[in-house]
Amino acid sequence: MITFPENFLWGTATAAYQVEGAWNEDGRGPSIWDTFSHTPGLVTNGDTGDVACDHYHRLEEDLDTLAALGVRAYRFSVSWPRVQPGGSGPVNRPGLDFYSRLVDGLLARDIAPVATLYHWDLPQELEDAGGWPNRDTAERFAEYARLMGDALGDRVHTWITLNEPWCSAYLGYASGVHAPARTEPAAALAALHHLNLGHGLAVQALRTTAASSAQMSVTLNLHHVRGVSERDADAVRRADALANRAFLGPMLEGAYPRDLIADTASVTDWSFVRDGDEAAACRSLDVLGVNYYNPTLVRQWDGSSRRETADGHQDGTASPWIACEDVEFVRQPGPYTEMGWNIDESGLTELLLRLHRDHPGLPLVITENGAAFADVVDADGRIRDERRIDYLRRHLTAVTEAIAAGADVRGYFVWSLMDNFEWAHGYAKRFGIVRVDRDTMRRTWKDSAHWYREVVATGKLPS
Ligand code: FCB
Repeated sequence: MITFPENFLWGTATAAYQVEGAWNEDGRGPSIWDTFSHTPGLVTNGDTGDVACDHYHRLEEDLDTLAALGVRAYRFSVSWPRVQPGGSGPVNRPGLDFYSRLVDGLLARDIAPVATLYHWDLPQELEDAGGWPNRDTAERFAEYARLMGDALGDRVHTWITLNEPWCSAYLGYASGVHAPARTEPAAALAALHHLNLGHGLAVQALRTTAASSAQMSVTLNLHHVRGVSERDADAVRRADALANRAFLGPMLEGAYPRDLIADTASVTDWSFVRDGDEAAACRSLDVLGVNYYNPTLVRQWDGSSRRETADGHQDGTASPWIACEDVEFVRQPGPYTEMGWNIDESGLTELLLRLHRDHPGLPLVITENGAAFADVVDADGRIRDERRIDYLRRHLTAVTEAIAAGADVRGYFVWSLMDNFEWAHGYAKRFGIVRVDRDTMRRTWKDSAHWYREVVATGKLPS
């Protein structure tokens, strides 16, 4: 029987734009994702987050679901334009009240609030002023963090500054498959830097406002990069620099990796990095959030065969892999989830052990892991999502293997509590352990939710 450590933090995760809806209520301003989803052709089926899971109006019901699941923590994100409609200036009270009720509702149910400040919904006004490639956005982000620290700092258990800045920078500004749909590689690297800087400034702001017991964190979608053969070592190095060390370097060591600067020299001279920025990005963290779905396989491109680009991040016209023109992203063997992502939990164990090796002493939490499948509601109303249970079981086992080998992993959050707006895929991809009926908004527990409840209650994986 596989058993987890006693105080292991079991949770589920969601993000504001994916679940809240109420996109134009109570003074909320527009975000880049409203603009993106309202642009014809960018999201599958023309879906938008206008209503999403209507979580904004069904807060109590969803809180009760969390309590019934028995989770010890809930990871949600704050919609920046809900609390600061234009991304600067005074707070929008009704918007802030929603998060205050959410946090109080969690605490009343003995669930630790884990708040992500930025899960991709930049206020549109800040994008109009240049977005993340514009340095001022990092300053605005820190101001917003201070505001949130002032408001909720006495009650939030863990603050996560950014969710997957990889996606914000490269999918938002290089490949353009995410908001704000720009395809400007140099701007994407400037965005990357201002996200790193914004993270550091936000941690600093939160440390002065939040309770001293509050944990500071950031969530990265680190890529576990493997080469097809030993000849692909340089392709692995390049992808690793761009995907992982571009964030780990400044945030944890206070410096960008030299090879990254050299690799991208034809794209930018990095003059947007000012003296002191790297030190400002590097603030001591209490825990590192790791999102993991599948590993990445690369090969040095021979320049003649058709170049494979199966990185799992949708084919935009441009690549998110800046200055990696000679790197191929190779399709990996199945089985696959509905996202087309291969299922390979060994990457999670290896990734956790690498972090443990490279950054000893920094506790880790899996802030997202889960799978989309085309669930079927059976005639008896049950959703027998055996494949999702199998995916979760495999990955949780992989976590225990990393723990047994020495990694300090403190918690695990399933993505996601409920089916929601899966960005450019709209509602077509269902990641929830709870089903949301798109017509009635009714929530129904899938078999995986019942399974997870048992895991949480016992701290063991049922055989
Ligand atoms: C991650 C995102 C999350 C969700 C999952 C499937 O990249 O952080 O919002 O979309 O992927």
